[in-house]
Amino acid sequence: MSRPEDPHRPAFHFLPPANWINDPNGLIHWRDRYHLFYQYNPNGAFHGTIHWGHAVSDDLVYWHDLPVALAPVPGGPDKDGVFSGCAVDRDGTPTLVYTGIGPEVQCVAEAADPGDPDLAAWTRRRDNPVIAAPPPSLAVRGFRDPFVWREDDGWYCAIGSGIKGRGGAVLLYRSPDLVRWEYLHELCISDREDTGDMWECPNFFPAGDRHVLLVSSIPPGSVLCMTGEYRAHRFVPEETTVLDEGGSFYAPQVMLDDRGRRLMWGWLRENRGADAQVAAGGSGALSLPTELSMNRDGTLRVRPVHEITSLRGAHSHYRDVPVRPGDGGGEIAIAGTRLELEAVFAAGGARQFGLHLFESPDGAERTRLFFDGARQALVLDRSASSLDPGAARDVRAAPMGLAPGEALTLRVFLDGSVIEVFANDRVVLSSRVYPTLPESRGVRPFAVGGPAALRALHAWEMRPIWRGDRVLPVAP
Ligand code: FRU
Repeated sequence: MSRPEDPHRPAFHFLPPANWINDPNGLIHWRDRYHLFYQYNPNGAFHGTIHWGHAVSDDLVYWHDLPVALAPVPGGPDKDGVFSGCAVDRDGTPTLVYTGIGPEVQCVAEAADPGDPDLAAWTRRRDNPVIAAPPPSLAVRGFRDPFVWREDDGWYCAIGSGIKGRGGAVLLYRSPDLVRWEYLHELCISDREDTGDMWECPNFFPAGDRHVLLVSSIPPGSVLCMTGEYRAHRFVPEETTVLDEGGSFYAPQVMLDDRGRRLMWGWLRENRGADAQVAAGGSGALSLPTELSMNRDGTLRVRPVHEITSLRGAHSHYRDVPVRPGDGGGEIAIAGTRLELEAVFAAGGARQFGLHLFESPDGAERTRLFFDGARQALVLDRSASSLDPGAARDVRAAPMGLAPGEALTLRVFLDGSVIEVFANDRVVLSSRVYPTLPESRGVRPFAVGGPAALRALHAWEMRPIWRGDRVLPVAP
């Protein structure tokens, strides 16, 4: 079991009681409850023997662990692992569509009792695998992570893949019943060299007057967000961006909830060595649940769901604080490792301005989050985040401009080792840092090359989302 006192263990981000978690799976809002499944290894804090863990929430904030929903079945099409997939409502029956490993095939499982509020028991279709092989005409690299939606003439399924010699691709299938599938064509294929050989975990949905395709590309292991047009069952991207440059966020999944919100969770990978993960007894967490919408300029807007504000505890607040090079915002005294921060900065001549986070009083450890005018970027500098040589030490940067007179508004969540940043409703950075010193708790504004003005700074202590002891989810 992970040690509850582990200072790096997140307290208000979703993770299993112990062991390994990667992708969120099977998201569904069923009879007023949010069901979250996830890639889970019950045998340790490393990737292997992949099951589907399961948890449920009434409010997107507090979660209740349920038994493992799907475990590999010896001799079955998922004998080597139950890989990622999604959930849909098939005429009143919650239905999971996922990849079985040994080799990669697509499978279906149905809720044994749709009336059970826990949806605890799942029955596999006897006709699994429902898609037994990739199209024989294609030389594919990978064939996994089905994402299913309904159109007027049937069910559609996007499967993550890559075409050898060409690049990442998403393959499109259609079915009348989720069981008999017909391959149509590529929904989308990469036309660039820098977008990876294979696209994992596709998500495809309408937003505003466009469609959005999210894929997790390998290499380089980042999430691509494509916006464009969906016509004749083909998606033509018009713009491609990296959704999150923080170095941790991967394999997100989206869902539509009963209030019409498009929600998203992603996997927050560890950014430290495998041995440290095993020693901690746990690896990985999920991002906060976020709500997606379209900005007026056609970029995707990602915001934490409003429910998360219910975790706010003790509050401190500063207004109109000048920040000069070298002075660190004088009067400000904020410290903590489980915080929500909201900072509004005006540039006022500074080349760089932002916040030091997880800072030790002597500055030996600190993470720098700042806007860099010369680079036109929001930067997360982890080069001094930790004295542990096994923790990531790099500088992450997301392209970002500020219009003349535009303030920088940073909403930042710190949770043990998690940093999630939402900047001006258009840039998201999710990252992991592992300070070693107990006193690396400081939060301090800074400016370089000129003054900046901190118009407002709020800090809230955040409450944990778990109450009492947790029991490891086991297979039914
Ligand atoms: C993405 C991924 C998926 C796969 C799963 C296996 O992180 O590699 O493509 O289904 O994880 O755990």
